[in-house]
Amino acid sequence: MSSWLPRNPAELDKAVTGAERDAILDAIRSLNDDARLGDSEAFYAQQRLLARIYGLHTLIPEGPSAEGSVLLHTITRLLEEATIEAEDGYIEPGLIDQAPAEPAAYLSWLKKLAREHRVYKHPYYREFIRDEATSADLRTYVMQESVVDGRFDDLLAMMQVGTSGAAKMEIAQNFWDEMGNGKPEEVHTHLFNKIFEVFEIPADELERSLTANALLSGNLAVLLCRYRQYYPEAVGFLGMTEWLVPDRFVQVVHAWERLGLPDIGIVYHRLHITVDSQHAAGWFHNVVIPAAESEHMRRAIARGTLWRLNSSARYLDERMPAVAV
Ligand SMILES: [Fe+2]
Ligand SMILES: [Fe+2]
Repeated sequence: MSSWLPRNPAELDKAVTGAERDAILDAIRSLNDDARLGDSEAFYAQQRLLARIYGLHTLIPEGPSAEGSVLLHTITRLLEEATIEAEDGYIEPGLIDQAPAEPAAYLSWLKKLAREHRVYKHPYYREFIRDEATSADLRTYVMQESVVDGRFDDLLAMMQVGTSGAAKMEIAQNFWDEMGNGKPEEVHTHLFNKIFEVFEIPADELERSLTANALLSGNLAVLLCRYRQYYPEAVGFLGMTEWLVPDRFVQVVHAWERLGLPDIGIVYHRLHITVDSQHAAGWFHNVVIPAAESEHMRRAIARGTLWRLNSSARYLDERMPAVAV
């Protein structure tokens, strides 16, 4: 199916019809069924295909692109619905009903959810990265992280469409920080890519190495930022991503210094220890609190927050199987 992605959308829709189309949609449904039942290869194939399709929506193509294909959209929706259902399945029933209605109390509740979650101070960072990781382990680590950190600016750009007032201003400020406040050499994705230069990671190795849960993390971020319907979920997901960063990156910087790796590769992580605590605080104050006046928003922000906490925990468990529960 990946061979379809660089095709003209109208041609693709004309070429694949009738029984062939039905067979393909059935194959996607059974892939989703297998993934739901715990088949790890099916889960990987599901998330890899979704990640490749999302490449059409997040990268400028060099030639034709099937981005506008109706068939491809139908396939995308099947993959997305299955991914959403699986992620909602990880949320403890009734948990979101406990969210307080008053905005400040709601924010405290969200933070408490995170502090009491096993992902908070996860031993992958606190023990493994900090004290044990080798240079090869850090190399693998940054590859897996690239699906979110490597395009955080584009995620912000996608999620801000349709916002206004304090929320739009906060997202704009955050985006401008991502742009190095106008200095090309300080653009965050540029700084992040420096670590790739230190480790000499080619693009094809990167694609091959991404695990199912790393792919899922990137896919959830694109899914929530891309659809206006999921704006509040994106608020929760990205806000919690920023909030968890500082403590995690303290451990990465510690490992980097312990291993005596070149300073140029760690500028990104060092910077984000400070900048992301400011981003999280600004996000909570200017995006979450004003939105939390509405019950619909409160429920959806909590849902996105829990998606981030739960998926991040599974991802870190996968990186460190000894602590999986
Ligand atoms: Fe950043
Ligand atoms: Fe940030």
